[in-house]
Amino acid sequence: MSIENLQKDIRGLKSRLAQKDQQIKELQLMHKISKEAAGVTNLKKTLQLIIEEACGAFEAGIGSILLFDSKSKELVMKAARGLDAEFLKSVRIKIGERISGWVAESRKPLLVVDVESDERFAKRSNEKYFNKSLITAPISCRNKFLGVININNKKSMEVFTEHDLDLLVAIAEQAGIIISNADTYRQFQEVYLNTVSALTEAIDTRDHYTKSHSEHVTKYAMSIAKEMDLDDERMNILRDASKLHDIGKIGVHDYILMKPGKLTKEEWEEIKLHSIKGVKILQPLTFLNGSLDAIRGHHERFDGKGYPDGKKGKNISLEARIMAVADSFDAMTTERPYRKGLSIKEAREEMIRNKGAQFDPEIVDAFIHCLDKQKLK
Ligand SMILES: [Fe+2]
Ligand SMILES: [Fe+2]
Repeated sequence: MSIENLQKDIRGLKSRLAQKDQQIKELQLMHKISKEAAGVTNLKKTLQLIIEEACGAFEAGIGSILLFDSKSKELVMKAARGLDAEFLKSVRIKIGERISGWVAESRKPLLVVDVESDERFAKRSNEKYFNKSLITAPISCRNKFLGVININNKKSMEVFTEHDLDLLVAIAEQAGIIISNADTYRQFQEVYLNTVSALTEAIDTRDHYTKSHSEHVTKYAMSIAKEMDLDDERMNILRDASKLHDIGKIGVHDYILMKPGKLTKEEWEEIKLHSIKGVKILQPLTFLNGSLDAIRGHHERFDGKGYPDGKKGKNISLEARIMAVADSFDAMTTERPYRKGLSIKEAREEMIRNKGAQFDPEIVDAFIHCLDKQKLK
């Protein structure tokens, strides 16, 4: 065998190996994405993971997923890589507008070799690309159009291939299943939360002589969270935890909850178990798992003298520290059979007096700020 032939064989072998390597990478990518489809609890996170993985597989610098908003009839950016975060918030594309709008209208995947010379997009595209080639595909599930996935700027500056487009279509199919599952899941959650809310209302009536305690706590906690600029995920955890924080009182005897006078030590010990009982009740519901820590910890104190774990300072989860402030404020301002409720002014002073003892000082400051802006009560 001549040296030329040997070199040719080696080159052929190398390219076949590279091909196999690529196929393995693609299979791994699809496996990773389809695993996500099994249990989506946070769609935004999952879509971000898909776009990160897709950009990685195509070695591309920019990628985005836009979902169709059936109310406004626009495509709204939900996940992206390589694009400015502020710019992303403002992206809303009408059907037929720009490249994503074209895909939404035609419902067809598309490989663009040179976006500037492609006359379909000459007037539609005002995006700036360093590399003019891109691939894009519609996301649908059972014939329902859900959104668009875009990939551009291959780092090698090469043009995308038909093979790349096939892989993107496969990714879009998986994304469609994931989005549709998440929707069904969300509907299930809503039905469940409504049922549980009715239950907490019943508990509130027994315990607090007002049926709105959980609702008030939720309102205060969400105002604090907004003031502290918490992200969406933490807001959701806090909302669910606040609505359900006293659900463990289901397990406390009526005569204790409804006792008009002061409680004995034993009765008080039984009431104190409600934060642990609440966690036990909700534990089987996996979608509420993120809220359990906050429910368990809503009676912890910043100085470590609370219950059930006696946790101190920032060892108590942020959500639980927020709920402690919201819960106490509502308790202070609510009238009980054996005592009058404090006025807002008195309760405000009491919160400040307890900074660093019962409450996290930063959270009290945020709450007082909300109160003073008269956002509350
Ligand atoms: Fe409680
Ligand atoms: Fe409470």
